[in-house]
Amino acid sequence: MPPEAELPAALAAARDYPALRWMGSKLRLLPFLHETFAALDFDRAIDAFSGSGCVAYLLKCMGKQVLANDAMRVAVTMAEALVVNERERIGAERIDRLAALPGNPEGFITRTFAGIFFTPADLAFLDAVWDELDRDPGLPRAPILAALARAAIKRQPRGVFTVAGDPEHMKDGRRDLRLDLRQQFRENAALVDRRVFASGRDHETRFGEVFDLEGRAADLVYLDPPYVPRADDNCYVKRYHFVEGLVTRWRAPEARIREDSKVKKLVKRKSPFGSRRSAPAAFDRLFAAFPGATLVLSYSANGWPDLDELVAMMRRHRPRIEVERCAHRYSFGTHGGVAAARRETEEYLVVGR
Ligand SMILES: C[S@@+](CC[C@H](N)C(=O)[O-])C[C@H]1O[C@@H](n2cnc3c(N)ncnc32)[C@H](O)[C@@H]1O
Repeated sequence: MPPEAELPAALAAARDYPALRWMGSKLRLLPFLHETFAALDFDRAIDAFSGSGCVAYLLKCMGKQVLANDAMRVAVTMAEALVVNERERIGAERIDRLAALPGNPEGFITRTFAGIFFTPADLAFLDAVWDELDRDPGLPRAPILAALARAAIKRQPRGVFTVAGDPEHMKDGRRDLRLDLRQQFRENAALVDRRVFASGRDHETRFGEVFDLEGRAADLVYLDPPYVPRADDNCYVKRYHFVEGLVTRWRAPEARIREDSKVKKLVKRKSPFGSRRSAPAAFDRLFAAFPGATLVLSYSANGWPDLDELVAMMRRHRPRIEVERCAHRYSFGTHGGVAAARRETEEYLVVGR
């Protein structure tokens, strides 16, 4: 990457986005995305699978009007706090006050997750912040919840909630695990506040299935669907159920805890991108869904279907296809507590016009 001083302003701003440690996050690929977007002529963009929100935020930094959509509420909360939100900040005084709240050891979160995730004091803090949100509807809800979600992911070993365990017992000494949730919240709230800015555009978020956006007008649609798994699965609810529940205090209709789950996972949601059986038809439908818009699809060399097949599919809906390539190093978690590994792969952006 070029030195800081030579970075385009939009990219320099977007690189500091407080992204979640989200499976498939494109935070490190923002320079590649920026270069590709900058060469295209568009004003209104849809980020149809917004995840951590960093690409929607890059588009905002580039002066575009953005609609960020995702099937996870925690993803939508991030985009609400940092893309749609143009001016609401938590503020230093309020951060201090929230971080110093007496914990509520009787709350739903504490009762439900004691002995599964975090310490009793951490859980009681989450309940106390939620008590405040319930008591005072005037609080800047999205920034507070975005900061809480990011704090919780940082405090969780490997950032996912598939295995129980309080981080204090995972003595790897990493700073993120040493800080308790109050300290994490304090840092993350200040960080979210620093990244809120006014672009003067009307942005939007939407929670739900990508196909509900069918026919929405846009000049460009960025598509970053979950990679169809070769082995394992690509279920986001399974990995991030705790923060998905946290952003509504487990009150959203789909935030139902599975009775059979030791770590209190939420009931699964079906995604057509979850299996090889349903994915080809889903890609075809996706490419047909936004007539007239330029499509930009993220894909990686170890994804499925392979590049040639995807290009052939997109060609049925767009006459002109270009493939941009970028070498990328990414980390991935494996099953059963084995440490995250690193692997070199090639990332693509398939542009269809
Ligand atoms: C690869 S991630 C996107 C990463 C994002 N571009 C970023 O940089 O953080 C895929 C996202 O698709 C969402 N998702 C999965 N199935 C979906 C569906 N059917 N409709 C909408 N979103 C879906 C997941 O919740 C996940 O956040």
